[in-house]
Amino acid sequence: MPTIGFVAEIRSGEKRCAVLPTNIKGYTLLGARVVVEAGIGQPLHFSDDDYVQAGAEIATSREALLQSADVVLGLHKLPVEDLAHLRPNSLLISYLDPFNEHLYIQQLVTQQISSISMEMIPRISRCQKMDALSSQASLAGYVMVLQATNTLDAVFPMMMTPAGTLKPAKVFVIGAGVAGLQAIATAKRLGASVTAFDTRAVVAEQVRSLGAKFLHIDLGQTSETSQGYAQALSPEQLQIQQREQAKCIAESDIVITTAQLFGRKPPVLIDDATIARMRPGSVIVDMAAENGGNVAGSVVGKTVEIHGVNVIGTGSWANGVAKHASQMYANNLFNLVSEFWHKDSNHFALDVADEVLSGCVISHQGQVVNKMILDFYQQHGVTIQTHVSSLSAEA
Ligand code: NAI
Repeated sequence: MPTIGFVAEIRSGEKRCAVLPTNIKGYTLLGARVVVEAGIGQPLHFSDDDYVQAGAEIATSREALLQSADVVLGLHKLPVEDLAHLRPNSLLISYLDPFNEHLYIQQLVTQQISSISMEMIPRISRCQKMDALSSQASLAGYVMVLQATNTLDAVFPMMMTPAGTLKPAKVFVIGAGVAGLQAIATAKRLGASVTAFDTRAVVAEQVRSLGAKFLHIDLGQTSETSQGYAQALSPEQLQIQQREQAKCIAESDIVITTAQLFGRKPPVLIDDATIARMRPGSVIVDMAAENGGNVAGSVVGKTVEIHGVNVIGTGSWANGVAKHASQMYANNLFNLVSEFWHKDSNHFALDVADEVLSGCVISHQGQVVNKMILDFYQQHGVTIQTHVSSLSAEA
């Protein structure tokens, strides 16, 4: 019987985990033995006994779990020291950040570990149930608004009271993808007056359907990838955007930036001079602070004051609602594993020709098999040494 192992998250402050007790039955029904690391659900107040009651075993140690599992599942990528304990031809599924972590990917290749990067699940209808970027980004949009409300010195909704009328807060959301749309919806629910901008004109209708205004900026030709991701703007277009959105930013109580470029550093959209135009006491939330930032001066993990404006760069936003974030991430993982679980032969069928797996499998049989990552490495002069041996032929 194959063993599916779930590691506890050891990153400081991380409360999420890759499996909840409610998911265990599904894995056992697939025909797998499920082993979890002791304490895996403890930050969410799930005891080891809750997992045992659901049908899992508790590993005697993290090392033993890594050594015994055929499939290892987690949220963040394992520390590199953990990789040494994995078996050749085992399968690792977690966030892997393959664009930036080529040395890590080299290690997986060298050890002939197959890997799936959860960031790389294709953006196609068949994959929506497995799409962890979307599930976590949606919650991030919600959390960012709540953090902003807690920091702003004013209320969101209009209030007409005997003591006077309070104007609704003005919120400007830059980037109306998954996180941005959820931020818009959350701010609207709280009664704010919301405006949004995105380089993909196609989202204007979605913004309006949430009751928000769409700021029109004529950037000329913009484009998106086949998966719906925005292409980078030219330096001239970025300048136009910065200039045209500055007035809206200056008039806003809260600005939330969610602009990302898949596999690339996010663009800096708000410079110091623009922050200086905002009313002191207003708030900026920079979703991208972790990856370099949309806002000049934002600091990951911190709220900093710039020209009297509170710039929030918390990062790891979905961790702010860790139970629901874990529920969604764990379901994404289960949907992925069950989609490719071969019931007759009772194993995860890793067919790199499949349209989903070809997008998200990074390493397999001692080489990088992902075309997007291979092309990216080639463009950036990264070479990966392949390690094809007789072991691979058995996979
Ligand atoms: P993302 O996190 O890569 O980017 C967030 C947003 O920032 C995007 O809407 C992008 O257009 C925008 N952006 C980039 N540069 C900008 C700039 N300079 N100024 C303003 N906005 C900027 O994207 P996300 O949210 O992960 O998804 C993007 C799109 O992918 C979705 O809107 C959808 O079309 C597609 N998608 C498809 C799915 C599926 O079919 N399974 C699931 C999720 C998303």
